[in-house]
Amino acid sequence: MSLQEDRVLVENVVLQQIKLKKHTLDLFVSPCNLFIPNAVSRLFSKVVRIDEDDTVFDIGTGTGVLGIWAALEDSEIVFAVDPVEEHCELAMQNAQSNGVGEKFVVRCGSLFEPLADNLRADVIIGDVSGIADGPGKALGWYSDSVPTGGGDGTEVVVEMIDKSRQRLAKGGRLYFPVAVGLSNDERVMEVARACYGNLKQVVDVWFPLSEEEYDIVSCCLPQSMLDKVRRKGSRMAWNGHIFEATQPIM
Ligand SMILES: C[S@@+](CC[C@H](N)C(=O)[O-])C[C@H]1O[C@@H](n2cnc3c(N)ncnc32)[C@H](O)[C@@H]1O
Repeated sequence: MSLQEDRVLVENVVLQQIKLKKHTLDLFVSPCNLFIPNAVSRLFSKVVRIDEDDTVFDIGTGTGVLGIWAALEDSEIVFAVDPVEEHCELAMQNAQSNGVGEKFVVRCGSLFEPLADNLRADVIIGDVSGIADGPGKALGWYSDSVPTGGGDGTEVVVEMIDKSRQRLAKGGRLYFPVAVGLSNDERVMEVARACYGNLKQVVDVWFPLSEEEYDIVSCCLPQSMLDKVRRKGSRMAWNGHIFEATQPIM
């Protein structure tokens, strides 16, 4: 199946049902070509707080999963951004088919660039690529058409944290991921501490790797990152964190 044959072609589209906090979404995804919502997407929905009439930015929306979830909550409007045109196409389709097309605005581009300068968010969901290029590609989590977090996994997250300060409304909050073991987490936290007065860790989860996956990452990770992939029971695992950042330092 393909969508929008007369415009952008998105090949090999299938329907994925995903349960997030309070809502079940039916999403068009393209597992071979594009990013597929996963356990991290679900964790974001568990910890992101949306208050009534909040304006939400979903930066790195992929096929729209977290922005659509936020639109199903009490938010006023959601602006969703991704640099991959096919992601944006599916995100728009998915918002419509989940009944929130009216309050879901999709923009194709990098970080905050496609959003009007005067727009401010009460909540920024910053689930952008935060895995280093080597493991991201070798594990098959990122296809060639989806940008990873660069050589050490920090390129997109660090820029997003820095720029988010100018984009939060008073009292607003940013949520961002840190992949300990699969990125240079220390660099991300250094930038986060310089940019925000208050950082609260809201998720701390170990994700197991199969033996084959561990062999793959051990070939492409620098020793400093590989040392942080730890044995948990019988399996090796990497550590996923999500932080809530408030009180931007200008
Ligand atoms: C880990 S995936 C998460 C996607 C989605 N939030 C989900 O849960 O399925 C990271 C997303 O960040 C996007 N991304 C990468 N670089 C970006 C940038 N400069 N600006 C905005 N999004 C970016 C990727 O295209 C990808 O969709």
